Amino acid sequence: MSITFTLNGELRRLPAETPPAMTLLDWLRAAGLTGTKEGCAEGDCGACTVVIEAPDGARAPVNACLMTLGQAHGLALRSVEGLLAPDGAPHPVQAAMLAAEATQCGFCTPGIVMSLYAHARMGGDAHEALAGNLCRCTGYRPILDAMAALPVAEDAAPAQPASDVTGFGPPEHRFFLPRSLDETLRLRREYPGAWILAGGTDLGLRFSEHREDPGSIICLRDVAELRGISAGPEGLSVGAAEPYAALLDLMTGDADFAAFAGLLRRLGSRQIRALGTLGGNLGTASPIGDALPPLLALGARVSLAGPNGARDVAVEDFLLGYRRNALGVEEVIARVFIPRPKPGAIFAAEKLSRRHDQDISAIGLSVLLERDGDVITRARIAHGGCGPMAARAPEAEAVLEGAAFTEAQARAAGDALARAITPMDDLRGTAEYRRVAACNLMLRLYWREARPDAAAEIMALPTPHAPRFISP
Ligand SMILES: Cc1cc2nc3c(=O)[nH]c(=O)nc-3n(C[C@H](O)[C@H](O)[C@H](O)COP(=O)(O)OP(=O)(O)OC[C@H]3O[C@@H](n4cnc5c(N)ncnc54)[C@H](O)[C@@H]3O)c2cc1C
Ligand code: FES
Ligand code: FES
Repeated sequence: MSITFTLNGELRRLPAETPPAMTLLDWLRAAGLTGTKEGCAEGDCGACTVVIEAPDGARAPVNACLMTLGQAHGLALRSVEGLLAPDGAPHPVQAAMLAAEATQCGFCTPGIVMSLYAHARMGGDAHEALAGNLCRCTGYRPILDAMAALPVAEDAAPAQPASDVTGFGPPEHRFFLPRSLDETLRLRREYPGAWILAGGTDLGLRFSEHREDPGSIICLRDVAELRGISAGPEGLSVGAAEPYAALLDLMTGDADFAAFAGLLRRLGSRQIRALGTLGGNLGTASPIGDALPPLLALGARVSLAGPNGARDVAVEDFLLGYRRNALGVEEVIARVFIPRPKPGAIFAAEKLSRRHDQDISAIGLSVLLERDGDVITRARIAHGGCGPMAARAPEAEAVLEGAAFTEAQARAAGDALARAITPMDDLRGTAEYRRVAACNLMLRLYWREARPDAAAEIMALPTPHAPRFISP
């Protein structure tokens, strides 16, 4: 069995000995397709952006430096070489970049062109579309001008290679793409040392940056029971292997989860959200996993599937310590249930980072306040980046429960929070900064509620973009 995908409309069937954990970027460049660049090899710069084209015509930009060849199996991909018309004419995106003089050294340009190619179909916010692409010399104003001139894409949907394979690669480096939970659990038993890979946006660094040899890999992408999201009156049931992009779409249209959506929009970039998953965020159990504080504040639960069936665990019991969780050796995270905030409740999901997008949190804070009239009947406050693991702060919750949400009470809860956390000094902020910031985030939440008309923060880039040229 070989890895098979469509690249720029051509079927590519790779030799059986091709290592499935090789990154797509390494393969493209070795195949002579050097338009796709390597900048950082860790998902940060976007120079390696290629696009997945879905059968319904949807386009998703991804980082080729993080994606393994095994993950490319069964997909239709487009690299920058695949944009030219058969007669060599530039694609409208390339023409728009040229007309807006949106390139200088050109190193970032293929990646930016591919992000714009996806954006021309997906639409949405310009800032969001470019968050995963760094340009160090041209500046973004002409790139935004090129975006403003883009026509809406109407290209035909691509041909998709059939994917009926569950495994490939040599015996010591098997890459499995199981289709059912049963098959996944069987493989987990048979290959106890295999890496479990969902989107690979965390594990991918071990291939691309650290060049680690994973042995065998079980990829969860095609496991039906681990995909899909359903929304009901009680909350959302989210497949652990469903990419963030789908969750963000659903939360954006659901007022109860607007704050969660605002946070997800800042988790990585479009490229990262096209692959990364909630299951992966829980799997890493990192103290700076952005989704963990809101899951804790909302009282989310995870369903863990294993050989003896499924067990249901509250997220706060699932997280055990620094990058440690309660997953058994033969289990996988199957689904995450996120309860809906009660009517009238306040729910906020905050993130402070040095850069607005595509940056690791210095501190995350999520707060759920349920109220009866003016009185807070239930408070759940959860933080990230303030200790060895994302956790609740019962000391701060106790200050608010039974009280009205006044400025004095918010400050007292903030002070209790600052005393409860155990942050450290690192390049994202000092421990003292984190304590002050945690307290200030509680106050900001109060001011957002008490004075919704007051500006609570300043955005770096006005959106939607309006060109600020004044003709001479
Ligand atoms: C450039 C860049 C920016 C990023 N920005 C952010 C950010 O802003 N905020 C943030 O929180 N994170 C960020 N991340 C980290 C990463 O994107 C997230 O942690 C993401 O949720 C990982 O999901 P994944 O599906 O890619 O996980 P993977 O890399 O596939 O897996 C991560 C871990 O979870 C395990 N795992 C995955 N799924 C399951 C499952 N269903 N059952 C059992 N174990 C499982 C894997 O074995 C592995 O140990 C960023 C990463 C990069 C490269
Ligand atoms: S090389 Fe920088 S994101 Fe891939
Ligand atoms: S044109 Fe030089 S980095 Fe963007």
